[in-house]
Amino acid sequence: MSSAAKDARSIDHFFSAPSGRHDRWRDLHSLARSWANGDAKRNAVEQALEDLGVLEEFHAFPGTDLIAALRERLRNEDKAGFLALAKRISLDIITGNYKQDAGEWQAADLALPDPADVLPPSLGDSRTHRPYFELLAVTPAPASRWPHIAAEFRRLRRQEDAFIYETVLVGSLEDAVCAAVMNPDIAAVAIYEGFALRSRHDAPVLRNVLATQHPLLLETDEADLSLRLAAGLKAIRPELDIYLLSDRRVEKLAGDPRAAIIRRIMYQIEEPLELHLSVQEGIKARFETPFFDNLKLYAQRPIATFHALPIARGKSVFRSPWIRDMGQFYGINLFLAESSATTGGLDSLLEPTGNIKRAQDMAARAFGAEHAFFVTNGTSTSNKMVLQALVAPGDIVILDRNCHKSHHYGLVLSGAQPFYVEAFPMAEFSMYGAVPLRTIKKALLDLKSEGRLDRVKMLDLTNCTFDGHIYNTRRVMEECLAIKPDLIFLWDEAWFGFARWSPFLRPRTGMGAAADIEAWAQTQGAVEQFEKQRAELGNAPSADKLLQTRLIPDPRAIRLRVYQTNSTHKSMSAIRQGSMVLVRDVDFHTIEAQFHEAIFTHASTSPNQQLIASLDVARRQMELEGYGLVMNAIEVALDIRREINSHPLISTYFSIVGADGMVPKEYRSSGFIDFLAPGTRWDDQLRSMREDEFCLDPTRMTLVCGTAGFDGTSFKGLLASEYNIQVNKTSRNSVLLQSNINNTRSDVALLISVLLKICQSIDTRLKHGGEAEQKAFAARVKALMKDVPDLPNFSHFHETFRQDAGDKTPEGDIRTAFFAAYSEKQCEYLPIDSPECDRRLKDGPDMVSANFVIPYPPGFPIMVPGQVITHETITFMRKLDVKEIHGYEKAKGLKLLRTDVLAGKKSANHEAARKRPRAA
Ligand SMILES: Cc1ncc(COP(=O)(O)O)c(C=O)c1O
Repeated sequence: MSSAAKDARSIDHFFSAPSGRHDRWRDLHSLARSWANGDAKRNAVEQALEDLGVLEEFHAFPGTDLIAALRERLRNEDKAGFLALAKRISLDIITGNYKQDAGEWQAADLALPDPADVLPPSLGDSRTHRPYFELLAVTPAPASRWPHIAAEFRRLRRQEDAFIYETVLVGSLEDAVCAAVMNPDIAAVAIYEGFALRSRHDAPVLRNVLATQHPLLLETDEADLSLRLAAGLKAIRPELDIYLLSDRRVEKLAGDPRAAIIRRIMYQIEEPLELHLSVQEGIKARFETPFFDNLKLYAQRPIATFHALPIARGKSVFRSPWIRDMGQFYGINLFLAESSATTGGLDSLLEPTGNIKRAQDMAARAFGAEHAFFVTNGTSTSNKMVLQALVAPGDIVILDRNCHKSHHYGLVLSGAQPFYVEAFPMAEFSMYGAVPLRTIKKALLDLKSEGRLDRVKMLDLTNCTFDGHIYNTRRVMEECLAIKPDLIFLWDEAWFGFARWSPFLRPRTGMGAAADIEAWAQTQGAVEQFEKQRAELGNAPSADKLLQTRLIPDPRAIRLRVYQTNSTHKSMSAIRQGSMVLVRDVDFHTIEAQFHEAIFTHASTSPNQQLIASLDVARRQMELEGYGLVMNAIEVALDIRREINSHPLISTYFSIVGADGMVPKEYRSSGFIDFLAPGTRWDDQLRSMREDEFCLDPTRMTLVCGTAGFDGTSFKGLLASEYNIQVNKTSRNSVLLQSNINNTRSDVALLISVLLKICQSIDTRLKHGGEAEQKAFAARVKALMKDVPDLPNFSHFHETFRQDAGDKTPEGDIRTAFFAAYSEKQCEYLPIDSPECDRRLKDGPDMVSANFVIPYPPGFPIMVPGQVITHETITFMRKLDVKEIHGYEKAKGLKLLRTDVLAGKKSANHEAARKRPRAA
């Protein structure tokens, strides 16, 4: 058997599960057509049907009856009948039509004993749209009884049910894990005690992973198998509702702390309707959107408004002869659902006590946080809120200089001192990666040796970075907590909110890692591990030793304080600017008042109702279908990567940089190369996600276009203006493609066809243009790909702004520098091309930047207020060929602070810090 065929037959071939399934059904359909035309043999069709078989057991549709009907038609050589049915099922699986149309569950000429026995009675009821899901039942019953059990569940359905479900039955722990992974429609699980451990089928990869990473799951101790399965399923898909049906003493089971993850424990023999109702109620608890539901009700009420916001209720719009088209374009509900009131059940975003509070609590549950706060001004505001709430003037914050500008501005506003750390450079693409852990630890150890560790409040990092570098969040936090046990972490996950719904990515989110650390700290072995390492390290380990050691924090001493911001609008179905702050902070109660002050400082007092509602709805969607949607986004990305890198013509001009190109080898200790490297399996990816210092988010694709003669900005423009394709950001020689939950395979097809057209036109131009054209093309490619300027590191703050800094550590008072520039007397301008600029670089006095200078691309500040400008920075600026440079006016030149005027001025932070009592 070929290895591909073997892969298809083993039940744990998880990579590309849904699209792999679509492909297999499409293959069967096309083979059926060939068989009908006389071009293929029956054997081939039979084999294709067999290959489908095992995996189909994890899905309710098409189910045993339709598969049996296909088999029968095959046996009877009914080529036309087989083709018709295979075609319909294949289409149904791709479109999902069967979820709403009862007819799709029947083979047209199949004589069913009693349709009511087989079909959901309310499926296809056109009066209401009832969302469809699948219930996984893990049962000790023999497989021959499963159709009967599924029929029993169908009989429980009632007209009043808000949702429709079908049941998928499996008989073992291994099959249950596979079904939960492979079938995104599964939303609830009923575990009947007494099921087997091993699958009836082959599952080599899964067994290997379970044996090495979850050995406890496989212990043969029968008694706990259900609890272990429940824990395993929750680890993969925390959103699943789990019901446990036992014939033991259920009261005792319910008292087991490990049973807290189970939604309800029931006595197996009791009324099955109870389970049915519980399952419906469980889905309803996720479906409910307190704020949005209420807003819809509000919109239906006849309300006269005597306050601001004339467009509320729409009368100013629909009655106007001049702006009526606005009303027609947006529809009446937008206006009926707008209000500046916080009464009438609309709650207040600034002081939520009603349905916004409930919506936020549900978001916290969904995202694995203790608290969630909705923000309607983007993550730019979320970051500033967190910084203001947690750091005070003079505190030190270690942060990636390459982070989003909201962090830099947050520090300007709060007066905390940035200790900039550098990400590893990727000069060939004019971009940065992420900050190595060694650099972060060194920063902490340097501050410690300067006696300034008590001043360090926070580590602030971007996860994942714009270009897709994902931190090992758990390891970073553990090692930092080993040096400073109360360090606060701010993970800017503007791009990464969706990651919660991928079992691969979740452990690498701030919240996911915090949960893992919390769980670890409560284990018996945690203190032992710490003590063992402490003994090994001895009393006064050197900084070098600490840098080389994977440090274990003291589980008794750590204060786990983790904040995560996400631009819900960037990766989920929230309206633009919808963002969230997620919190897991054991000391939150001590800063809650400050946190609310920060909200009052930054939030608008007129938050948009639709935005708040969309955050509520985005949460609902992710809790009910996020797993499948994220899997789809990853599959789309893998498709794009595969198609571009393997296409004979496209790959001569374009390429998507693999994980090995984005993450240097030294940070991939697992040896992982790329998602598409030959022989790579999902367990390799899992190991990489667990071990490696950095991983690549597969949905963020760096498409190199310099090799096709385009710089990033012009290529982005070309795609948008000529081909209606919009991409994310650009670098000198690349553009960033991002797949997300709304992408389809048609989008992939469009992108590929456009790239092909562009490649064909380059090919033609080079052929017809002769040697001159080819030379010019080669020169352009070389300029874009090879003549790339070195990226300038952060130099240092000028001494004027370091009066309260350590001797050897680089932190500085950015706020004083920022506001110094408000006085024109204290500023001067200098063109970067002037001889005076060169003279100052050589002979001084220092040139000190008065503001942030941020070129787009690459989009990071090459100068910050108070920073001394060096040769490196000026050379980079001179080589930059981008038009957009924020903070730099070409006509005037660089805005500099006159240090002669500033000399002798004490920094505001210095004063503030001097007056504040120091922590012991
Ligand atoms: C890393 C990062 N953080 C924060 C933001 C700001 O997010 P928002 O656009 O939601 O204000 C961005 C925006 O691109 C970003 O890239």
